[in-house]
Amino acid sequence: MKPALDLAKANFRGLTPCVHGADVLEAAGAAGLEREAILDFSSSVNPLGPSDKALQAIKAGFSQIPSYPDSYSNELRDAIASHYAGVDRGNVIVSNGSTELIYLFAEAFMRRGDVALVPAPSFGEYETAVRKTGEKVRYVKLGRGFQVTSEKFLRAMSGNAKIVYFCNPNNPTSMLTSQETLASIIQSALERDILVFLDEDFLEFVDGEETLSMIRRIREFPNLFVLRSFTKLFGLTGLRIGYGVASEELVSVLMNAKLPWNVNCLGQAAAVAALNDAEHLKRTLDLVREEKTFLFSRLSKIKAFKVYPPDANFLFLNIKKTGLTAAQLKQKMLRKGVLIRDCSSFAGLDEYYIRVAVKTRQENERLLAAFKECLS
Ligand SMILES: Cc1ncc(COP(=O)(O)O)c(C=O)c1O
Repeated sequence: MKPALDLAKANFRGLTPCVHGADVLEAAGAAGLEREAILDFSSSVNPLGPSDKALQAIKAGFSQIPSYPDSYSNELRDAIASHYAGVDRGNVIVSNGSTELIYLFAEAFMRRGDVALVPAPSFGEYETAVRKTGEKVRYVKLGRGFQVTSEKFLRAMSGNAKIVYFCNPNNPTSMLTSQETLASIIQSALERDILVFLDEDFLEFVDGEETLSMIRRIREFPNLFVLRSFTKLFGLTGLRIGYGVASEELVSVLMNAKLPWNVNCLGQAAAVAALNDAEHLKRTLDLVREEKTFLFSRLSKIKAFKVYPPDANFLFLNIKKTGLTAAQLKQKMLRKGVLIRDCSSFAGLDEYYIRVAVKTRQENERLLAAFKECLS
């Protein structure tokens, strides 16, 4: 037989997995440490973990394991819809992590010759999802200080543009884009039959999230698809649950194309319980707010760091003045048992940027101590 690679579709041959943080096992192996000895600042999820109510719902759901889960996740879709004014079950699709929808959206809408606009730097899976369809990405480089201006996006929306991927607040910069700028990009896209895939996975960490979210404008913008996740704020990271909110028409294209039984029964039950645990969410948000301010202030005191003011639950830093690359600093930190995100894999960044999550005070103190030791 020919090599398997020769038998694969042309657009699958050059595919490689997107680089992510959270490679704790690999990092532990490289540092000769136990997994438990690594403090992971490379993935930005709830520092308190999931709600107890979600964990109880998982235990209660064990009895459902012998049956197939609800392929349409209807109870969870209803629970999600009830959290937003003017949103019904038909406006919601639930997925195996929000990543599934990044891929499904590209698969459903990228036709031959189409181009997807992707900001640089931003989350890497948008590009991989588009490349998997065999079509191309056009980068829209963010402006000075990584700010977004609608003009750059409008200029890039020429002829064959089909989807604009956008992340708000952006990963890895932790910066929020204003409602006006977003609305102007979405409106211009609408006038050109271009779809906007707006990733709000980290928006729940921003004060005033309800008014900042574009979910309340899905009726005004039939070209808009808003992505959310149970991975970040809800801390159900390993269970893999995400969702999208859009017009019924957009959602039904995706519902008909998704894999059957894409979300397991324990994930569906846990997500419903997590949504209703307001107390745990408040505790998380209070902690993240306080610790974000603390970390920003302490990291800003380290002269060799340029720290960008964070909107989300992680901080983005330029470390060029340390004389180390991000990869070198990551290695040094790992020897102290602390894993940080080397951002050099993000398109549009050089080798001098890192990202760290906001965690508990004790953990943040360990991060600061490790930085000081590595830079002294
Ligand atoms: C901006 C952004 N969007 C989407 C995802 C995918 O998250 P999940 O598939 O766990 O919901 C991530 C994960 O890191 C992310 O950073």
